[in-house]
Amino acid sequence: MTKDGVNGTAVEMIEGIKNEGFQEEAAENHGGQGEPNTSSLVLSPNREESAYTQIKPYAGMPKEVLLLYSNQVRYRLPRELLFWLTIVSTVGLVALTSAVIAMSPRCLGWWQSSAVYQIYPRSFKDSNNDGIGDLKGIEEKLEHFEYLNIKAVWISPFYKSPMKDFGYDVEDFRDIDPLFGTMQDFENLLASMHSKGLKMIMDYIPNHSSDKHRWFQLSRNRTRGYEDYYIWTDCTPPVPPNNWVSVFGNSSWTYDEVRDQCYLHQFLKGQPDLNFRNPRVREEMTDIIRFWLDKGVDGFRMDAVKHILEAQHLRDEPQVDPNQPPESVDSESDLYHDYTTSQLGLHDILRGWRVEMDKYSREPGRHRFMVTESYDYKEISKTMMYYGTPTVKESDFPFNFYLIDLPNRLSGDGAFDLVNLWMTNMPEGKWPNWVVGNHDKPRITTTAGTEYTRVINMLLLTLPGTPTTYYGEEIGMENVNVSESEIQDPFGKFNPNMSRDPQRSPMQWSAEENAGFSQNKTWLPIHPNYTTVNVESQKSDSGSVLEQYRALSFLRETELPLHRGWTCFVHRDADVFAFVREMDGFPVAFLVVLNFGGDALTDLSGVLELPDELKVRVGTSGREGTLLHKSKIDTKLGEGLVLEYSSNQRLHPGHGSSCFVSEKACYLSALDILYKC
Ligand code: GLC
Repeated sequence: MTKDGVNGTAVEMIEGIKNEGFQEEAAENHGGQGEPNTSSLVLSPNREESAYTQIKPYAGMPKEVLLLYSNQVRYRLPRELLFWLTIVSTVGLVALTSAVIAMSPRCLGWWQSSAVYQIYPRSFKDSNNDGIGDLKGIEEKLEHFEYLNIKAVWISPFYKSPMKDFGYDVEDFRDIDPLFGTMQDFENLLASMHSKGLKMIMDYIPNHSSDKHRWFQLSRNRTRGYEDYYIWTDCTPPVPPNNWVSVFGNSSWTYDEVRDQCYLHQFLKGQPDLNFRNPRVREEMTDIIRFWLDKGVDGFRMDAVKHILEAQHLRDEPQVDPNQPPESVDSESDLYHDYTTSQLGLHDILRGWRVEMDKYSREPGRHRFMVTESYDYKEISKTMMYYGTPTVKESDFPFNFYLIDLPNRLSGDGAFDLVNLWMTNMPEGKWPNWVVGNHDKPRITTTAGTEYTRVINMLLLTLPGTPTTYYGEEIGMENVNVSESEIQDPFGKFNPNMSRDPQRSPMQWSAEENAGFSQNKTWLPIHPNYTTVNVESQKSDSGSVLEQYRALSFLRETELPLHRGWTCFVHRDADVFAFVREMDGFPVAFLVVLNFGGDALTDLSGVLELPDELKVRVGTSGREGTLLHKSKIDTKLGEGLVLEYSSNQRLHPGHGSSCFVSEKACYLSALDILYKC
């Protein structure tokens, strides 16, 4: 088909296309001036429109015809309708998608939704029967975490080490100590953990290396490029350069004959402090982070971070007791550590590592987790700084060690004070966490008394945020007695009262010989109570510490208010600490009543938002299903209750200052979804 343009109005039609109306009209126009032309037609311009409109639309019609048809109402209307419909639905969809995105609360990260379980690898499971735990042993026991519904496991150091501080003195940051296995064993363990949905958190020890580390050997020999890898200064032995003392006691300076200078060690003399003011050291240490992230580890527990930098002027630190004779100053507690801890620049270093880790966190579900270890005791604001600022990220959380102090203040008021301390000091938008024990602190079951084991686990697992469980706490393991002559821990050798051996005894798996940990003499004694306090026996006892731990661990995951709801403190006295976990829109809420004193009857009738009757969902003494009246909640010494109730009344709107929430979300029951509110 050809056309001569609109003005020419000559339209040539493809042969074979019949268009009766068009032909008729054309014949009329020619008005007997010869034969009607069936293959080409010329239309008079002023009749163009009416002529065209008589043509029935057909495929392939010329543009002019098409345009005339398309202007007809019956074509134009549906077309415009469709056009606007498309626009409206596109805009609608974009708006809906944006609204859904804007309304969706953040999903909790893996490090928020599961408890973190700490393994001290020497003591978890011995696979080769040398009396010391190892990586293959951990792999053998992975089903323990599935059983406990734990998805995140932190393993204390397994780097190559002379073991002066049992792995916290690292000889090679890129190698595995043969005591624990090989790099292949590590890779196998990591792969097995990942295949079971478990995350591995490694210990990262930036402050110091071992004196056996290659860098230290090069540095003491003043090898070019390595001279300033550590903190060296002139000294005249036996006089140290200043009064600084090591965390483990005595001067933190040791004279090195090879270099004829003193080097700084804030821990053992076998743990020289790295010099983080040297950019090469910083780069080396960041590279080690990359090395393990490349291998696939999911996060780091960053050791002793407050010690990373020291003042360069090396002035004496002020004495706590100015009248103490300076020559008797030999303990950490004798000095204010103004020049050896929390120095300016520390947070920049940590934030740099965060940036590095974030580069590995981009895939969904692959967030690389960072937790910092720093004991700041009375200076909680210093601890909180490790959370970073609203705009600059640092650790996901700094470990919260305050509950370790609970046995010293064992009461409802004490528990409230320690929990409230963290919640009121934590920066807005951050995620809390709770620790009741670790490899450095006496086991809480021993310090608080076994009668409080269950209620402490209940506190840990019902508070908002991430709980950390030190291996054995799930079965109520206690400190073991280690005679002075058998002390292994260097801290214990300085001061037997400070020995950390008692809390590092082998895990009690069963009532078999050596508690099922090893078939050989174990590196530390096993607690004699292992015949009853062990995983196997407790699995078959529905009322055991282990089974209660497990029930709470599942409850915490499955019940939204416990997982990420509000926490409102409702009661505290000498015996009892009680709080509510609730979520807007969620039909069920929980009242947690914990007894840290003696037998008590708690009257919560003043809490109007609570219904009169509440049902025990989990109890430390097996009262599940029992109905209790809110005016008479009876608990015995060391008893804990998670009470469930249905109500549309929420506490948090009316009790602002006693209520806290992180990762706030509301529940829409009609759609069974969470939304931002
Ligand atoms: C941390 C560790 C502790 C170790 C010290 C030195 O505090 O938890 O066990 O001895 O750092 O690395």
